[in-house]
Amino acid sequence: MRIDIITVLPGLLQGPLNESILKRGSQKGVLDINVIDLREYGLGKHKQVDDEAYGGKAGMVMMIEPIANCIGVLQKERTYDEVIYMTPDGKRFDQKTANTLSLKENLLILCGHYKGIDERIREAFITMEISIGDYVLTGGELAAAVVTDAICRLVPGVLNDETSALSDSFQDGLLSPPIYTRPAEFEGMIVPEVLRSGNFKAIEDWEHEQALKRTEDRRPDLLD
Ligand code: ADE
Repeated sequence: MRIDIITVLPGLLQGPLNESILKRGSQKGVLDINVIDLREYGLGKHKQVDDEAYGGKAGMVMMIEPIANCIGVLQKERTYDEVIYMTPDGKRFDQKTANTLSLKENLLILCGHYKGIDERIREAFITMEISIGDYVLTGGELAAAVVTDAICRLVPGVLNDETSALSDSFQDGLLSPPIYTRPAEFEGMIVPEVLRSGNFKAIEDWEHEQALKRTEDRRPDLLD
């Protein structure tokens, strides 16, 4: 899978994308994540990418020309399954959307900054708008990193144990059951007997029961 991310702050994405699982996926050749510096498509000597808003509103707006030129160059190279704009007024991101996007071949993500982007960019290029929650970040980069991480860990070959993504919280609409590791007892706190029983059917039943209970307690909305 290939993900291209357009940003005015490439440095904000370098850390999250070059560590851990995403790094491993890239090294294995199953992921190809590229950060494109929009400034390279900026206008004039100062590589301008933003300008004042029409109508006298305070704050700067990302201009259409640099973004149109940048997307134009990228689209000459390949067809994107989705051109995604990260914005607090987009559709709320969830596991279902992550699953759907993980099956795509090429994704393009545009990170907004300042007051946002010229509306004509949304009309002309954007096929999907994603929010990671009802709060406003200073830019779309951290949101793009979150979305990229959630998608990429589902791509076969990225996680070592492929079944582990399938048993994540939310994959079956339930939160995960409690998990434990050694020691079996710590200061009087004991790992449930059933998990040490070796009885796989009993363990599976217990885990399902616990997942249901946890979901009822913490996120009853998921059961609706
Ligand atoms: N850009 C700024 N805030 C955001 C959010 N909550 N989700 C996605 N992109 C954003």
